[in-house]
Amino acid sequence: MARILLGVSGGIAAYKALELVRLTTGAGHAVRVVQTPTSRRFVGEASFAALSGAPVLVSEFERDPARGAFPGDPQPAHDPLSHLELVGNADVYVIAPASANTIAKLANGLAFDMLCSCALAATCPVLVAPAMNNHMYEHPATRANLQTLRERGVTIVAPGEGRLASKGEHGIGRLAEPAQLLAACEAALAAGTSAGGQANGAVTARGGDWDGVKVLVTAGGTREPIDSVRFLGNSSSGRMGLALAEAALARGADVTLVAANVSLAASEAIARRDVVTAAELQRACQEEFPVSDVLFMAAAVADFRPVAPQQGKIKKSGRASLALELEATTDVLATLAAQRREGQTLVGFAAEHGDGAVELARGKLVEKGVDAIVVNDISRADIGFDVDANEVTILTANGSANGAISVGRAAKSQVAEAILDAVWRLRGGR
Ligand code: CTP
Repeated sequence: MARILLGVSGGIAAYKALELVRLTTGAGHAVRVVQTPTSRRFVGEASFAALSGAPVLVSEFERDPARGAFPGDPQPAHDPLSHLELVGNADVYVIAPASANTIAKLANGLAFDMLCSCALAATCPVLVAPAMNNHMYEHPATRANLQTLRERGVTIVAPGEGRLASKGEHGIGRLAEPAQLLAACEAALAAGTSAGGQANGAVTARGGDWDGVKVLVTAGGTREPIDSVRFLGNSSSGRMGLALAEAALARGADVTLVAANVSLAASEAIARRDVVTAAELQRACQEEFPVSDVLFMAAAVADFRPVAPQQGKIKKSGRASLALELEATTDVLATLAAQRREGQTLVGFAAEHGDGAVELARGKLVEKGVDAIVVNDISRADIGFDVDANEVTILTANGSANGAISVGRAAKSQVAEAILDAVWRLRGGR
C-alpha cells in the first residue's frame, strides 16, 4: 500500500482523474487529492472526496480536516501546515491532468496554488501527465517546460494521440489512460524505493540526466542479398530507433547509431554508421558495444539469409520456380548479451502479431538475457512499421507492475521518452 497524492489541474481530462482515484484505491493505495481552483470547473471536490474517502484541498490557507494524514493513517495531534504535511507524507505525487499553465508554473518553480506548492515541497517521486490541445502541447514553450521538468528528475507520463476534446480536433495531447498512470506511479514507487525514495529532482536527478552515458542504438531493417539487385528485407523504416537516438541525445547522452538501410536523417551530433546486412550490423555492434552503457536494439535483423547470393542477376528464363536456400544469421542481441560487462543495460524490441504478443516477448526477455523488451503488436496497421505512432509494452526483468509498463498510442518521440524513463529507472538513476 502506498500513499499517492494526486494533483488535478484544469482541463476536461480531469474526469479521467476520477477513474485514476478509483483504480488506485481499488489497488489498495491510499489517495489524497489536491485541486487547482480552475479544475473545480470541470470536476468538483465532492467527487474526488467521495472516491478517495478523504478531504480534498484547493488552497494552502484552508484547514485540512485530516491534518495531512492519508486514509488509514493516524492523524497527528497538532494542526500542521497542510501543503507541507500532505506532500511530506506522500510516497509519490502525480499531477494528472497537468495543463499547459500548470506545467509552466511547475517549470518556473512558482507556488501560486496548493498543487504547485506541494510540487515544490515534494521529496518523493513526482510524475506529471500532460493533457491539452495538440497545438499547446507542441508549442516550444510547453516542450521546453517539460524538458526542464525532465531534467529535474520529474517523470513525464506522455500523452496519447487521438481525438481531442474540441470538436474535430485530432492529435497528441490526450491524457494517458488511468491504468497507464497507475502503472507509472507503481513503477516510480518501486524505483524510488530502490533509489532511496528521494526523486523529485530537488534531491536526486532521475530520468533527465544522461550526461556522459554512452548509448548505442540500432535502427532500420537489414537486407540480405539474393543476387546483385535483389534482397530479402523487411519494412522497418528506422523511425523508432531514430526517435530513441534523438531523445537520448537531447538528454545529454553520447549516441552512436547503427543504421540499417535508413533513409531518414539524424542529428549531426549522433555518430552514425550505415550498414546493409545482418553481418555488417553485427560487426558494427561488436565494435561499439564494449564502450556502450546502454544498447537499444531497435533494428529488425534478418533471422535468415541466402546461403549463396548470386553474382549478377538471376534470370527467369526457362524456370518454372526458384528455390532459395537460407541459413540462420547470428542473433546479435543474444550474442552481445552473453558478452556484457557490469553496468551495461540491454533493451530488445519485439514485433509480435496479435494475441499473446506480450507473453511471446516475455519469453524473449529471458532467452536473450536482456534487461528489457519493448513489444508492439504488428497486427495493427495504425502503429508500428513505417508510421509515426506506436503503442508498446515495456517488459523489464526486474520492474514493478509485474514488470510491464504500457505506453498508450503516442508519437514515436513520446514512446522513446517513456522507454528512456523506464531504462533510467532500471539503471537505478545512474
Ligand atoms: N535480433 C538480433 N539478431 C537477430 C534477430 C533479432 O539482434 N538475428 C534482435 C532484434 O533487433 C530485436 C530482438 O532481437 O531487438 C527481437 O527480435 P525478433 O525478431 O522479434 O526475435 P527473434 O528472436 O528473431 O524471434 P522471431 O522468431 O519471433 O523472429
